[in-house]
Amino acid sequence: MISQAKTDQTDRDISTVTDRIEIRDVYKIFGRRKEEALALVREGKGKSEILERTQAVVGVNNVSLSVPKGSISVIMGLSGSGKSTLARCVNRILEPDAGQILLDGEDYTKCSDARMREIRRRRISMVFQNFGLLPNQTVIDNVAFGLKLRKVPLAERHKKAGEMLETVGLSEWASHLPGELSGGMRQRVGLARALATEADVLIMDEAFSALDPLIRTEMQDELLRLQNTLHKTVLFITHDFQEALRLGTKIAVMADGAVIRDGTPQEIVIDPGHDYVAAFTRNVDRARLFDAASVMSESPADAQGGRFVLNDAGEVAGWQDPVTGAVSEGFLAVRPETTLIEIAGAAARRRGPIAVVDAEGKFRGRISDEALLAGIAGAKETMKGSRTDA
Ligand SMILES: Nc1ncnc2c1ncn2[C@@H]1O[C@H](COP(=O)(O)OP(=O)(O)OP(=O)(O)O)[C@@H](O)[C@H]1O
Ligand SMILES: [Mg+2]
Repeated sequence: MISQAKTDQTDRDISTVTDRIEIRDVYKIFGRRKEEALALVREGKGKSEILERTQAVVGVNNVSLSVPKGSISVIMGLSGSGKSTLARCVNRILEPDAGQILLDGEDYTKCSDARMREIRRRRISMVFQNFGLLPNQTVIDNVAFGLKLRKVPLAERHKKAGEMLETVGLSEWASHLPGELSGGMRQRVGLARALATEADVLIMDEAFSALDPLIRTEMQDELLRLQNTLHKTVLFITHDFQEALRLGTKIAVMADGAVIRDGTPQEIVIDPGHDYVAAFTRNVDRARLFDAASVMSESPADAQGGRFVLNDAGEVAGWQDPVTGAVSEGFLAVRPETTLIEIAGAAARRRGPIAVVDAEGKFRGRISDEALLAGIAGAKETMKGSRTDA
């Protein structure tokens, strides 16, 4: 049995959770001749044509997206595609020119300033690329800053900030100044500050993009680890597709202000649907992205007449040879979430039929050698497209 190596987003089922944030038909135009530009964009005119005719820049073009509760939803796209503009609309640093944005069903694009302040302090918190730390304040005061704005008493906010520093592994640095910390450590402080507010929605705009590759990977792991216990709803913005794949429960790809592809990482890799998206997915390591569930057949029998024999409890008792009829225990058992690379490694060490069994030991499917290879090579027809349908 191959143990479950992945403990991150693969075991979350996004189909059963509700949306925390819902973006509906949102437009954002920059420039004086907004109404004119909005009319043109609604007619389907392109960003460059509109710029030429009205000098207005289309920031966000008719975006509808849901951010499921407890997910890490990624917005990915090249520079200038509108990611930050959309994030700023969600935080209402920018006002959308049209459309609605809902938090737990409440459209807050037209709420009062008082209500918006309340939402910013208690519900939606932002983590920036440049950390946004106050240089003359100690690490702990930086982490406690949001609580100070909420007029939480000093002792209480330091207690909470201390807990968050411990969560991100920086307890010993509480009384230092941000300037004494490395970039990765400062990003942790920024994360701790966002977590300390107890906001349940985090918007992270290129939060890790300024970090060295190694530290960046470390921060990604840290976020996944925290997410396993805290279950925040995260809107994560990046121009890095690998980062999107690593973190995203789902990914929306933006170009010229619009979302041109939206789905789970696996769905997008199997079917990019667009040349712009395909350019990102081409070099993806499928063997690490896809799992047993995505290539298995639910039938216990293969085309040659061999089959897995199940007991009354639905567990695999053995493999029946098509020629001799003998039942043997010489088979490989893997979990639905085991990655193709792990299966290939195990299959190379030990030949034989491959059964997929769940945590209770019940038979879930069978993987042929052909299906395993096709999955790794990325043959579209053989793939199911999602880990979550396991
Ligand atoms: N304040 C502004 N005034 C005018 N145009 C703006 C403003 N902010 C953004 N834009 C334009 O809106 C478009 C989207 O910009 P945005 O900053 O959202 O892109 P982005 O995807 O976040 O890019 P990056 O990866 O470089 O951060 C761009 O064409 C940009 O020029
Ligand atoms: Mg940006």
